[in-house]
Amino acid sequence: MRGMTIQVRELSTNTSGFPVTDGDGVKLTRIIGTPELNMLDPFLLLDAFESDQAQDYLGGFPDHPHRGFETVTYLLAGRMRHKDSAGHEGVIEAGGVQWMTAGKGIIHSEMPEQEDGLLQGFQLWVNLPASEKMRPPAYQEFPSNKIAVEYLENGGEVRVIAGSTDNGTTGPVVNRFVNPIFLDISLPEGKVFEQTVSIDNNGFIFVISGEVSVGHSMQKISHHQMGVLAGGERVVVKAQKETRFLLVAAQPLNEPVARGGPFVMNTRAEVLQAFEDFRGL
Ligand code: FE2
Repeated sequence: MRGMTIQVRELSTNTSGFPVTDGDGVKLTRIIGTPELNMLDPFLLLDAFESDQAQDYLGGFPDHPHRGFETVTYLLAGRMRHKDSAGHEGVIEAGGVQWMTAGKGIIHSEMPEQEDGLLQGFQLWVNLPASEKMRPPAYQEFPSNKIAVEYLENGGEVRVIAGSTDNGTTGPVVNRFVNPIFLDISLPEGKVFEQTVSIDNNGFIFVISGEVSVGHSMQKISHHQMGVLAGGERVVVKAQKETRFLLVAAQPLNEPVARGGPFVMNTRAEVLQAFEDFRGL
């Protein structure tokens, strides 16, 4: 496409989210799924957790169901044990990811596998298209050493969980429903990271530490803030300070969304059916 200008993505909004308590008293910051940012199709929810105070996380998330979407847990520090009604069990450790396709439904628990120390990470909910909401549950789990890592010439490092970088480093998670990219990027101060993100994708940047500026306007996002990317195809992020951030994007589904707690379907009737199906379980 010689001669055509590639549009750089700016930020449309940014948010620091809201403190919430979920599960059995776990303190979280809800970034997506709030009155300020209800969803960013196909992302239904993003929770960030970070605490070295055991009382903030010890209760964990005892048995609860999900239907109609995927839950992605990405841990930066600590250990979480998950266990479900289909007999699937494992421990996610720092740098590891679990990408669970709940499909028609499972009941699972997500409990910290530690009694003290830092627990830090994210849970992202990714919607499924209507045609896949009732598929059998599935799991993709990768420990830190199975995540693809790209070392940049400028001293940066990109951990690729899903999708591919412009240099062709491809993450282990495969998702043909919304073809996500999920990158965890570390950059020294003053350095720049660039990545092509398909023009139809919705996406965001969440700053884990430090501060970045985005696009030509160089609008800043600091520590613990999320910036929603505006239209375009090229993402250009500069480290204003030494930084670590997530870049996540995927194709929107553009379908009706009906939410009811742990169930996300297309219609209210389907959500009520989910409550009925999981009653007493
Ligand atoms: Fe869950």
